Amino acid sequence: MTVPPPRLDSKLPDVGTTIFTVMSQMAHDHGAINLSQGYPDYDGPAVLRERLQHYAGNGYNQYAPLAGVPALRAQIAAKVARCYGRDIDADTEVTVTPGATEAIYCAVTAVVRPGDEVILFDPVYDCYDPAVRLSGGVPVHLTLAAPGYRIDWDAVARAITPRTRLIMVNSPHNPTGSVLEADDIAALRELAVRHDLIVIADEVYEHLVFDGRRHESVLRDPVLAARSFAVFSFGKTYHVTGWKTGYCVAPPVLTTELRRVHQFVAFVANTPVQHALADFMAAHPEHLDELPGFYQAKRDRFNAALAGSRFRLRPSAGTFFQLADYAAISDEPDREFVRWLTTEVGVAAIPMSVFYAAPPGERVVRFCFCKEDATLDLAAAKLAAL
Ligand SMILES: Cc1ncc(COP(=O)(O)O)c(C=O)c1O
Repeated sequence: MTVPPPRLDSKLPDVGTTIFTVMSQMAHDHGAINLSQGYPDYDGPAVLRERLQHYAGNGYNQYAPLAGVPALRAQIAAKVARCYGRDIDADTEVTVTPGATEAIYCAVTAVVRPGDEVILFDPVYDCYDPAVRLSGGVPVHLTLAAPGYRIDWDAVARAITPRTRLIMVNSPHNPTGSVLEADDIAALRELAVRHDLIVIADEVYEHLVFDGRRHESVLRDPVLAARSFAVFSFGKTYHVTGWKTGYCVAPPVLTTELRRVHQFVAFVANTPVQHALADFMAAHPEHLDELPGFYQAKRDRFNAALAGSRFRLRPSAGTFFQLADYAAISDEPDREFVRWLTTEVGVAAIPMSVFYAAPPGERVVRFCFCKEDATLDLAAAKLAAL
């Protein structure tokens, strides 16, 4: 008997399994060193993990409050004040979410109506465009020009129409490692105010900024902060991506709308994780100060090992990603190159083309350097031999 399938008209017909899953699986299958997906091969701090065990073992296993555990929201507010000089109300401006991804999805869903245009910048993180389309919005993809990957604000001004509702920025930027500078923030503010746009600022790599730079959060700017959802991730900051916990800071008027969606998407974030993070943030504020140096050392180690290689490295000012041009090694398109790199050389990477609506056809891949030094050394030795 054949059972008829339901009529199905996919809402995302062009979306397959994300490249991150594909490459991690390929790395696993071939025993390759996985420099593809952005997660560490080390655990979060032992004290933090101990706190999680403590809370899970002592009755903190039921639903948290919708906005998040108050102790954690208080720590987030204190962090925002310390890092960005902004006093926020932990009750009305902070929402803890199951990862930055959920916060982004809820923010987009809260403000984008069918036909609204949303400005994105390619190369773009993979969850933005589908979220816009699922709301009936129209993604407008602008391009960050290599090798600096700065935003061309004149192009943004030209792309804005009466239907433009939202602009989504990401700094430090995955996959390029570029960062927004103070003049970018000024340009963003000017256009957002002039055209009454809402901003989603994906700042999950806020503490991974190198060479003495300061992270230019939208939260530093009172005018931008008043019209922005600023999104963060504990996974990146505390080396616990699998805990999938993040948060959104937004003014009360936007937070109210975010929570209206969040309560029906996830409702709440994980309870014992939130308590553990609150304790750790209170006890170890220095963790945040140590992160830039920790990751800069990894970037420098990896780059130094590749200095004499045939890869041409692009500047990485932040994040834990390093772009590398492989044109001197191969003429293959990037998807074929990473397949070869993974299966034959034993190092997995992400092809840059996946981050573009219209790939420019460059020979560039993304390596992730949030790995143990020994892992980086081994991978770099294989890559330097090409
Ligand atoms: C730019 C960017 N935004 C958001 C996320 C998702 O963060 P989370 O795991 O907290 O959902 C990632 C994860 O790689 C990312 O690189």
